[in-house]
Amino acid sequence: MTLLIASDHGGFELKQFLLQRLRAAGREVEDLGTDDGSVSVDYPDYAAAVAARVAGDSSVLGILVCGTGIGMSIAANKFAGVRAALAHDEFTARMAREHNNANILVLGGRVLDADAAWQMVQVWLGAAFEGGRHQNRLDKITQLEQARC
Ligand code: RB5
Repeated sequence: MTLLIASDHGGFELKQFLLQRLRAAGREVEDLGTDDGSVSVDYPDYAAAVAARVAGDSSVLGILVCGTGIGMSIAANKFAGVRAALAHDEFTARMAREHNNANILVLGGRVLDADAAWQMVQVWLGAAFEGGRHQNRLDKITQLEQARC
């Protein structure tokens, strides 16, 4: 499973923290920027960099971080096949995978404690999609994408 991570300036500090933790834990992760938290950048550019590679490739997962997580969520979910979930705590991180099969975890760098965010990442990576009735619901989301409503 390939793991990608990206942030804007608002999520830079947390991204760097998570990168360090992931790599220290032996996890390979590809950093798609931003590379300088002191420079204001546009979160849709980073959401697109990750979402374009996650869309349609079930072997790729992504983590996106902006200030609140809201902008990254909105942008990433424009890509068909992307299920980007803005999580707030360990419970929502687990549900994002078990119920929503989220292939991108979105975090708010300005609203989350870094250690709590790291716990959330581990929970999300370790959880498994439950399928069943949840797959039916994801199929309906796919139908919405195809209907372009
Ligand atoms: C950047 O100032 C901020 O708007 C961005 O990081 C994010 O919170 C947007 O949703």
